[in-house]
Amino acid sequence: MGRRVLITGGAGFIGSHTCLVLLEQGYELIVLDNFDNSSPEALHRVQELAGSKQLAVVKGDVRNPDDLDRAFQTVDQVDGVIHFAGLKAVGESVAEPLRYWDVNVNGSRVLAAAMERHDCRTIVFSSTSTAYGEPETFPLREDMATAPVHPYAQTKVAVEQLLTALCSSGPWRVATLRYFNPVGAHPSGRIGEDPLGIPNNLFPFITQVAAGRRERLNVFGQDYPTPDGTGIRDYLHVMDLADAHGVALEHLWEQEPPYPLTLNIGTGRGLSVLEVVKGFEASTGISIPYDVVERRAGDVPRLEACPQKAKEILGWSPRRGLAEMCRDGWTWQQANPMGYRGGT
Ligand code: WQD
Repeated sequence: MGRRVLITGGAGFIGSHTCLVLLEQGYELIVLDNFDNSSPEALHRVQELAGSKQLAVVKGDVRNPDDLDRAFQTVDQVDGVIHFAGLKAVGESVAEPLRYWDVNVNGSRVLAAAMERHDCRTIVFSSTSTAYGEPETFPLREDMATAPVHPYAQTKVAVEQLLTALCSSGPWRVATLRYFNPVGAHPSGRIGEDPLGIPNNLFPFITQVAAGRRERLNVFGQDYPTPDGTGIRDYLHVMDLADAHGVALEHLWEQEPPYPLTLNIGTGRGLSVLEVVKGFEASTGISIPYDVVERRAGDVPRLEACPQKAKEILGWSPRRGLAEMCRDGWTWQQANPMGYRGGT
């Protein structure tokens, strides 16, 4: 029998792709999700793509110990947890810091307590490249200081610290993955990113312009100290990111401490906004009209991973390039113009 993994927030963008990868690797999964910013339809489709493989769904909140107990009690023993559940919008976190500390930090605390109750101390945690703040030297290495500048990133760093303290307190095995910018979708076009309302992020905005749902892209600033003046980010295919969770869990089960293990998950090759636009046009043949507008408050000029540690320790490297990110994101958008709300 495969190992049993509890996945919080498994219906979200990264969670749903990770569920599919793990089911295909033979794991038995329990997803805990409150569907606040996600749809149960994502999990139906994961189930359908994975064939008959096992996926139990518990509707509930990571802040609620009873919901967690129900999830843990679905099987005899949970072997590991992947903790995706949380809030992730930078601007919203500035407006509602209490909500962010409650869901992200308190939610993680309540989850960790439930893990101790159920004798499971193995966890992969979703952290963020924004933990590095506004860095000036590149590429970003995990041993560089964290310097979060908004409540979203501050809550992620606080949870990293909590998990570090747990590793000092007992036999915890923790991998903290600092994600850069995941984009694209499963190549089937059945699961993908489904932002509510006007997308905040570059990629879904581009695919919605391509689909005619939005008229033009606004490029936020062309006066950054970068070669073409637009912001640089380290975009990676969401399927590569999903794969990283599988190998991280294997590592936790097989390798002795020291823990926590903190890893950047990115490609190491940053792309500017205009390079992404050009790449999308080249791989889909659709032109993306854009206007250059003011910088967006809170944006940094550049974020780019050093992905070496993940390669050395996990043997993980991204395998998919910009063309696949664009092709797969566009396939998803075309097949699901209104996301999961359009039904099957
Ligand atoms: C990328 C680049 C923009 C939209 C994201 C998440 C954040 C965090 C990290 C969360 C920037 C530019 C964007 C648009 C544009 N992780 N842009 N026009 O800012 O790195 O943040 O990753 O889980 O929460 O939001 O990503 O896709 O928003 O922006 O010009 O309409 O594209 O200025 O340079 P970002 P993004």
